[in-house]
Amino acid sequence: MSDLKPMKIGLIGVGYISPAYINGCRLFDIIEIAACADLNMDRARAVAAEFNIPKAVTIDELLTDPEIELVVNLTTPMAHAEITQRILRAGKHVWSEKPLAVTLEDADKIAETARTYNLRVGCAPDTTLFGEYQMARKLIDDGAIGTPVAATVFMGTSGPERWHPSVDFYYQPGGGPLLDIGPYFIGSLILFFGPVVRVTAITRDTSHQRTALDGHQINIQVKTHISGTLEFESGVVATLITSFEMPAHHMPWTELHGTGGSLLFPSPPWGDDLTVQVYEPEQRQWIPKPSVFRLDWRRGIGVADMVHALRSGRPHRTSFEVAYHSLEVMNGILKAGETHQHVAIISRCERPAPLPVGLTGRALD
Ligand SMILES: NC(=O)c1ccc[n+]([C@@H]2O[C@H](COP(=O)([O-])OP(=O)(O)OC[C@H]3O[C@@H](n4cnc5c(N)ncnc54)[C@H](O)[C@@H]3O)[C@@H](O)[C@H]2O)c1
Repeated sequence: MSDLKPMKIGLIGVGYISPAYINGCRLFDIIEIAACADLNMDRARAVAAEFNIPKAVTIDELLTDPEIELVVNLTTPMAHAEITQRILRAGKHVWSEKPLAVTLEDADKIAETARTYNLRVGCAPDTTLFGEYQMARKLIDDGAIGTPVAATVFMGTSGPERWHPSVDFYYQPGGGPLLDIGPYFIGSLILFFGPVVRVTAITRDTSHQRTALDGHQINIQVKTHISGTLEFESGVVATLITSFEMPAHHMPWTELHGTGGSLLFPSPPWGDDLTVQVYEPEQRQWIPKPSVFRLDWRRGIGVADMVHALRSGRPHRTSFEVAYHSLEVMNGILKAGETHQHVAIISRCERPAPLPVGLTGRALD
């Protein structure tokens, strides 16, 4: 157990993904979930009752609660920037679901507000802190694939309307396969290779009608198939395909290639088998590389890392800078698709620090 003082946190927006956060955060002694809020008070009350959260309150009540130091923003993408800024103006740190905002202008406003109030912003995805991703980072840093040269990243489904009960946000600005799923893959590529300098893409949509689970027609406002290319400052070239136009596929989710080998993630970060495999040319086969990091810490580890960082005065790993850079990359890819031009990426970020090997118990130290 850490001797750092636990932090009381609140949740705003307790929909589909909130149980993963509530259960995930509770694996860490340093987090105490004190209250939850939602535009839909019935939902806030139901989640508080089901998960034993002490209070379901209005957003204003949560923001004026003096005991809450950090708020987790789990609202839908178009609300992220506004809710994040309200939290900051209330004097509390924020950990936001992805994307950080829909536009870079809104992300700039968040940065300005955080600076004014001297508060921190962290942002999803925290899948980059999962044990398998940390293992891949370690393998790359230890030279398992030699000098990284290229990466291929695919995410293809026929769309979330088959399973999500309130699906419309996936087809509004801030959604679509790129802004919804891109942060996972771009975040992991930044973890492995650092920042991106240039992107290009071809994108498309279809006239394909989509029907939600409750039968209503979805208004599609986003590109639903994006084929992009990213050039990293290190020289690595990544091919990124994100699509809601793929009823099925056999493509591997993530492959990284270097001068001395290749590395494979068989599943997406929410999949069942994330065990990293490395192709070793001398042996001419893929070798599974079981992680030397914990595998039980899933969603919520980013919040725990941020709380730990605030208490111990170090930078948090799911940084604003990575989320901002990722947003600029994604919006650059969409712009390249519209303009048929390469787009230069202006912002830069550091690779987040790796997690230490050998963590045990319910604390990050
Ligand atoms: N569904 C998933 O599998 C999943 C996975 C990872 C991340 N996410 C991300 O988590 C976020 C939420 O996704 P979800 O699937 O839980 O959505 P959801 O629609 O199920 O839940 C969102 C909740 O936020 C509330 N809300 C919306 N605007 C609000 C506002 N202005 N103020 C207060 N509450 C507000 C809604 O009432 C709802 O209860 C999104 O950014 C999404 O990209 C979702």
